[in-house]
Amino acid sequence: MTVTRASAPRAAQAATQAISATGLRKSYGDKVVLDGIDLSVPQGTVFSLLGPNGAGKTTAVKILSTLITADAGELSVGGHDLAADPQSVRAAIGVTGQFSAVDGLITGEENMLLMADLHHLSRREGRRVAAELLERFDLVEAAKKPAAGYSGGMKRRLDIAMTLVGGPRIIFLDEPTTGLDPRSRHTMWGIIRELVADGVTVFLTTQYLEEADELADRIAVLNDGKIAAEGSAEELKRIVPGGHVKLRFTDPDGYRSAASALRDAARDDEALALRIPSDGSQRELRSILDWLDSAGIEADELTVHTPDLDDVFFALTDSAAAPARNNQPKEAVR
Ligand SMILES: Nc1ncnc2c1ncn2[C@@H]1O[C@H](COP(=O)(O)OP(=O)(O)OP(=O)(O)O)[C@@H](O)[C@H]1O
Ligand SMILES: [Mg+2]
Repeated sequence: MTVTRASAPRAAQAATQAISATGLRKSYGDKVVLDGIDLSVPQGTVFSLLGPNGAGKTTAVKILSTLITADAGELSVGGHDLAADPQSVRAAIGVTGQFSAVDGLITGEENMLLMADLHHLSRREGRRVAAELLERFDLVEAAKKPAAGYSGGMKRRLDIAMTLVGGPRIIFLDEPTTGLDPRSRHTMWGIIRELVADGVTVFLTTQYLEEADELADRIAVLNDGKIAAEGSAEELKRIVPGGHVKLRFTDPDGYRSAASALRDAARDDEALALRIPSDGSQRELRSILDWLDSAGIEADELTVHTPDLDDVFFALTDSAAAPARNNQPKEAVR
């Protein structure tokens, strides 16, 4: 008999997933934070949970990492049922919280050794693992200094190094790069990619949509207690409109004559700009350029905008809270 994926028992499906949640609910008083959400994260992949401030990302991380309990839901992490066997879940995971777990009063090395103790590593093994991770996270020079003096990026690296002491196969990273400069953020992305290449599963929350775009195999957008959309970055971008070619003029007369020739274009009289809907493909661009040539229109600037995850985020999350948005060009062609 063949069992298709759809008809396989839920427990069997959960076992093939590093993380799986069905009907996850959590309320604080009468505030419903997670209103029965489903998530599943295959082993060795990066899953990113996005959502506005207060959407419940940290709450989901805390529940799945056994720090707090859910009100309802079938939850399994690392093949272990969260309610029945939280101890085994704890042994399989590592968690880097939104707020640093680094103790500033002791050195980076001492923080690492403390973690090794918590994981019941022998003194020798603890020293070996700490030295290896400090080296890997480029913290050897700082290792003997109190962590309070570390920069934000160094503290965040130490935080993640501490998470890895027990060799977890599943890690939860709650906003690992918030507040980091672009270089430190790229370093962190490299670290996350290395972990995934080693087969580690990563559950990541972030406020940087570019980060989800770069790293995540699958992305879920949490809004109003529910998953508003889920898919790969490409799939999510396809669900929102917004692709267009923007023509800008410096001369008001040129702008006006172009606007009257291009009746279908959306006008922005203040910016002297016209927007022509487009999927950004080479074929469409060529036909737009040919059309502009034949109409004798010469714009001072032409940019192509393709929808990005920011567009998805604004389309799916509370529109009342979204600021008015300038569509930044992704790629200038001329
Ligand atoms: N211990 C608690 N008691 C009461 N309410 C709480 C508690 N913890 C979280 N909440 C509420 O639950 C909601 C979700 O909070 P959560 O921290 O999960 O959001 P988040 O998506 O991580 O937000 P951020 O992007 O700001 O980190 C918020 O409205 C928050 O005020
Ligand atoms: Mg949070």
